[in-house]
Amino acid sequence: MTLGTQDFAYLSDLIRKKSGISLSEDKMYLIESRLLPLARSHSLHNITELVNKVRGGDAGLVVELIEAMTTNETSFFRDMKPFQLFDNDVMPHIKAHNIDNNVRIWCAACSTGQEPYSLAMNINEKKIAYPGLSFDIQATDIDKKVLQKASEGIYSQFEIQRGLPITLLMKYFTQMQSYGEKWEMKEDLRKMVTFKYLNLLESYASMGKFDVIFCRNVLIYFEPETKSDILNRLADCLKPHGVLFLGSAETINDLTDKLTTFKDIRSIHCLKQPK
Ligand SMILES: C[S@@+](CC[C@H](N)C(=O)[O-])C[C@H]1O[C@@H](n2cnc3c(N)ncnc32)[C@H](O)[C@@H]1O
Repeated sequence: MTLGTQDFAYLSDLIRKKSGISLSEDKMYLIESRLLPLARSHSLHNITELVNKVRGGDAGLVVELIEAMTTNETSFFRDMKPFQLFDNDVMPHIKAHNIDNNVRIWCAACSTGQEPYSLAMNINEKKIAYPGLSFDIQATDIDKKVLQKASEGIYSQFEIQRGLPITLLMKYFTQMQSYGEKWEMKEDLRKMVTFKYLNLLESYASMGKFDVIFCRNVLIYFEPETKSDILNRLADCLKPHGVLFLGSAETINDLTDKLTTFKDIRSIHCLKQPK
């Protein structure tokens, strides 16, 4: 069954307004493949019936629809380099400039938690280099299902194999006896990260100021005006010496005047200093 033009127009508009995710017509197949199972799970025969139910004002269904359309691809130490840069370039800078001894980190589209937990492991492994510093890691996402999984800290063998070194697996996880293929994160590490719902299109007022923000592999789904708005508001959440990590395919070019490249490292940005 193919998605009708009117249903596509209605759905793509709804998804963009609610989440920022922009879907051009060549992504029709994505809407179909993600929303048909959702329609069926509500005993609806097709996407038109789903659209009619949403038009009828079913707010819960809109939430499920947005969650179905998010792409939650992630892995431990994804791309590796940002985590090395965090240790070798960013943390010495933060240590030199942080004035309250509390390093605040925000993973602004954390998916199932591998990114903030990778940072937590990095910090734990290097804690001897950070005497007197405490760390507060906040992790947010629009998708409550992934946040639930992230806060449980339970990962499959497949998820573990993607990027987690065996030494860190042995140190920070235990194999669950009754679920042979699953690994549970130890409580000390799990408690280092606080997960909560935040839609990047909405206010960041509850978040406060940060030394480091990771906002990786989410801006790629948005239109330039949305990227620009988000980058400007993330810049406002940085402490004066704070830095922002973007994904390797993401850039600030032509999107914000508030940020500039940190130490010529393409994926890290800091506030432009007043001239
Ligand atoms: C591809 S994952 C990236 C995860 C992680 N940052 C990484 O790089 O591995 C993108 C995440 O962005 C989230 N997302 C999409 N739109 C969002 C929005 N408007 N506000 C907050 N999170 C959003 C999705 O739910 C998804 O978990």
